[in-house]
Amino acid sequence: MAEDDATERMDPLTAEPGEVRTVAPSLPPTLSPSTAPPPLVVLGPGLPSIPRAAPSNPASASSSSSSSSSSSSSSALVSASGSRATGTLAQSTLAAMHGEEATRAAGFGRVVAILCAIGLLGQLTYAGHPKLRIAMVAAHAILGSVAAWVWWRARDHARWSQAVFRVFGLTAALSSVVFIHFLGVFSPVTVVVVMGLSFFGLGDDSKMALPLSILVAAQYLVSALLVTLGIIPDLGLFVPRDTPQPAKLAMLCMVTATMLMVLWQARLGRRATLEAIERSNEAVRVARTREAQLEEAKENLDAAIRAGSGRSGRYTGTSAGRFRLDNIVGRGAMGEVYSARVGDTNDRAAVKLLHIGKLEEPELVSRFLREAEVARRVRGPNLVNVLEVGNAQDGSPYIAMELLEGSDLATLLRDRPSLALPEVVTLVDDVARGLEILHAAGVVHRDLKPANLFLSQGPPPKWKILDYGVSKLRESTMTEDQVVGTPGYMSPEQAQGGKVDARSDIFALGAVAYRTITGRRPFTGTGTPQLLYQVVYAQPVRPREIAASIPRDVELVLAIALAKRPEARFPTSTSFATAMRLASQGALDQKMRTHGERIVRAAPWSKGAE
Ligand SMILES: Nc1ncnc2c1ncn2[C@@H]1O[C@H](COP(=O)(O)OP(=O)(O)O)[C@@H](O)[C@H]1O
Ligand SMILES: [Mg+2]
Repeated sequence: MAEDDATERMDPLTAEPGEVRTVAPSLPPTLSPSTAPPPLVVLGPGLPSIPRAAPSNPASASSSSSSSSSSSSSSALVSASGSRATGTLAQSTLAAMHGEEATRAAGFGRVVAILCAIGLLGQLTYAGHPKLRIAMVAAHAILGSVAAWVWWRARDHARWSQAVFRVFGLTAALSSVVFIHFLGVFSPVTVVVVMGLSFFGLGDDSKMALPLSILVAAQYLVSALLVTLGIIPDLGLFVPRDTPQPAKLAMLCMVTATMLMVLWQARLGRRATLEAIERSNEAVRVARTREAQLEEAKENLDAAIRAGSGRSGRYTGTSAGRFRLDNIVGRGAMGEVYSARVGDTNDRAAVKLLHIGKLEEPELVSRFLREAEVARRVRGPNLVNVLEVGNAQDGSPYIAMELLEGSDLATLLRDRPSLALPEVVTLVDDVARGLEILHAAGVVHRDLKPANLFLSQGPPPKWKILDYGVSKLRESTMTEDQVVGTPGYMSPEQAQGGKVDARSDIFALGAVAYRTITGRRPFTGTGTPQLLYQVVYAQPVRPREIAASIPRDVELVLAIALAKRPEARFPTSTSFATAMRLASQGALDQKMRTHGERIVRAAPWSKGAE
């Protein structure tokens, strides 16, 4: 019935829409990472559209039409927020590009300013043409000052503007004429010009960046041609003496071509960056839309649950033994749970009956009876107490239990993504106490997950373990080659259809703790096989990467509980609970810390893509 059920469980035996219990073919135990398929991509292509139930009667038809209008208005909301988001994202693309250019400008300005300062000092020693030396000193001084000004301004991105870019570009272009003529068209100055082209060619100001850069390259070509052909005198400091004319012409063509190539590369690079930012923005937009869809799906689910819970069911008004059944208080994969009155008294109880349709499945009926048998064996403050087991009027088996007031964890987590650390410590403590009793009785629960943990209202409030439907008695003859349980919280050995013991429940409790602390499930996948693969081979995302406030010790405790090898986990559920309590106070003992660190070193947490 709850979030953690509805999205992940699947029952090939009894597939009905919304059915949940998993009896999935296990991953072959022999599947090793080397033979395993390549890591599966966790994010799916998109949420499937949520089919709406066809109205079965006029009353529901009217409610359905109102729900569909609310749905269209909510999708309108989604698309409106989508386009709003697109606008904001486009602005953020521009802002990102602007910031990137400002950073580059500050760096380039600094380099040019330093080069100009060195060049000015060089003027003291240079020979060179005397007339050009004055122009050279002026060019160095002006360009150096402008570059220093750019460096100073662009460090604050807000002060980097198109006007600053243009002033810098024009000064650099004009100075390049002087430098080329003073140093010589075949001098190393061409390297500096190429460097300038790669900076200005990447410029945001497309009206100026490209024409100005082409102008600089053309200016070089013309100057070099005029000098080489002897039309104007070569006043350069670096002049090739005995180089033949064709070689000089070839060289100047090469240099011009290199300039144009660098320019072209710069423009291409800019376009590629823009496209990459656009693509990532698009991904963010899609993610936001999906988030909204998910939100909508959650509301639908809540509505469906409200419609089911507190309503009359198939057995309402009938009797099961001495229990008179009232409304439904919960639903799971296997059955419906009714509130009931005991005989003629006002005493309350809860009665679980198999879903209609499951009665024809002998395997499911025997599983239900096994649950009854297990539940009768174990008793404790953190376990739901069974009062009676019997057959209802129509012969179907039932389990009568104490009626719990409160809410299961899956329902709580639909309203709050995570719990506070002290709440998680209490949860682990209570559930561990329940597990201790189960394990001492030789029972492995095998399906610990949020929907099967119930916060019973006090006083004092207490977590109780529900649903022993797939639990396993030590002497049980149930075959090992099928996977039963819920993949998202299942231990790797259980996912592989291997031998399970108390430590499998410790893994599941670790997965529940991870889920409640971080707000995220430790393992996700688009389908059961992918999810099982993740459980067996992948590491969850590092908790502190999701929430930096999680204490380091708690992270280590989670790593121990979620260790792939059962021997590496806590040996008992109480040792897990004790470690959790200490870790929450940052007081985990050193031996445990070292153990956790060793586990993380051998199998590091995954990196989470935010
Ligand atoms: N004793 C109880 N008192 C109140 N609610 C209960 C009780 N037992 C179960 N529920 C509710 O019914 C839901 C389904 O019960 P569960 O035993 O887990 O059935 P299933 O085996 O079908 O998963 C639980 O998630 C819980 O919300
Ligand atoms: Mg259940």
